[in-house]
Amino acid sequence: MSNNTESWGSRIGLILAMAGNAVGLGNFLRFPVQAIQNGGGAFIIPYLVCFLLMGIPLLFVEWSMGRFGGKFGHHSTPFILDSMDKRKFWKYVGVFGIFTNIAVAAYYCYLESWTLSWMYHSVIGTFSGKTQEEVAGFFGNYVSLTSWEPIFFWLVCLLLNTWILSRGLSGGVEKVAKIGMPLLIIFGAFLAYKAITLKAGEHGAILSGIEGLNYLWTPNFDTIWSPKVWLAAAGQIFFTLSVGMGSIQCYASYVKSKDDVALNAMSAGWMNEFVEVVLGSAILIPISIGYLGIDQVVEMTKSGGLGLGFKTLPYLFEQWGGVLAAVCGVAWFGLLFFAGITSSLAMGTPCMGFLQDEFGWKRENAAWMFGFVVFLLGLPTVLFFNQGVFDEYDFWAGTVSLVVFALIEIILFAWVFGMDKGWKEITTGADIKVPVVFKFIIKYITPAMLIWVFVSSLPGIWDQIMNKSIYEQISSATDADLINKLNTQITYVNISRIGLLLVWFSIAYLVYIAYKNRKKEGRI
Ligand code: ALA
Repeated sequence: MSNNTESWGSRIGLILAMAGNAVGLGNFLRFPVQAIQNGGGAFIIPYLVCFLLMGIPLLFVEWSMGRFGGKFGHHSTPFILDSMDKRKFWKYVGVFGIFTNIAVAAYYCYLESWTLSWMYHSVIGTFSGKTQEEVAGFFGNYVSLTSWEPIFFWLVCLLLNTWILSRGLSGGVEKVAKIGMPLLIIFGAFLAYKAITLKAGEHGAILSGIEGLNYLWTPNFDTIWSPKVWLAAAGQIFFTLSVGMGSIQCYASYVKSKDDVALNAMSAGWMNEFVEVVLGSAILIPISIGYLGIDQVVEMTKSGGLGLGFKTLPYLFEQWGGVLAAVCGVAWFGLLFFAGITSSLAMGTPCMGFLQDEFGWKRENAAWMFGFVVFLLGLPTVLFFNQGVFDEYDFWAGTVSLVVFALIEIILFAWVFGMDKGWKEITTGADIKVPVVFKFIIKYITPAMLIWVFVSSLPGIWDQIMNKSIYEQISSATDADLINKLNTQITYVNISRIGLLLVWFSIAYLVYIAYKNRKKEGRI
């Protein structure tokens, strides 16, 4: 039945693709903003602890689960999980590993398409001579769809992703990673150099770039025990490493059964951390704080994360003069584009693997189907961005689902499949000696931390379900138009939740059909 003959072309290609999966817009836009919102130096210690105690263990678990499932010809989490225990419900848990990728891709591709547009506008000089308000206004007009341009760039981005996916792992994904990752590092190193060497008093800067780095890297123990800071740190680790998504398992399922997963997991994971903590912290924060000061930057990030990267930075680049401003704009948005596309491509592969394995689809058709579904599900995020649909997808798919799936999969791996078998999977073919302490961490510490993260998130999830923050805004609003707008927002948000649920149940139904087919054909 399966029509899946995919494989990786080379080890370096696999590691770069896996690192590209992790390195994304989250490294350059989400990480700095999370760090600022959570007190700079107060954020870094919880962040690093979460990386060591949740991120690394989950990387080991997901890589080895993927390679294990791949031995039986499974390339998406429903049947990877199914192969690990005889109980029938695991395949429905595995639905998360397809759902999350589709739902995140639906809003992520829109964000990715902005980088193309902003690159274009940096080249043609749209931002030159504009005030800070005018550059910010450009963003406001863009997401309010005052022209066809956002739709155009979004469609270009979707088509590009789909076309690359249709070329396969070694012929498409791996090639993009081999070009995109080095370019991203070069662009990032150049911008980090410019940011760190920014001097107070030069080109209108009020502080030197180093002040921004100091703000981030000076440990601050005042709020270190705040659950809010820990939740934000854990959320960032999940998002940035792409754990709890299902895409790592899918990529790893194409690794040969005797090949290493331990060193590969570490190489890709640490490469992501290098890009995040070194480059991710050395561009947006130093430049913004250098020009605007700490207080203003903290204030600006309160209303969300995208503002600094798209509304403020293009204006600040302009302070460096015509050609350099254009070069920096292209480097910044080019870097974001490569970071984004290597992640969105990874989001396409679980859905494709499922269609190829279970329904015998050709790779090209599976890629176009993914593109079509992302188009349908992504359209509301484009048309109703201002009505909160984009943020709603990000909350459910990009935050809650990751934690839920990671928690259940680690219980399956360490407690149901069993840690002895699990450890054998992690260490088979390993090119490094995996410290044996991880056996203990994976069995006890990571699940305990995940349970804590999940339970502590419940009040926030409940508030979200009840639309608490929108109702609070309504109760303090006096303007009838604003109240109407907020009520409309509630309707859009509720509809988008129903849409996401429908997608989840549709995938679960396909998994059921696939299971029936397997039974009929005697494949289980
Ligand atoms: N890991 C990807 C990112 O950081 C999703 O953007």
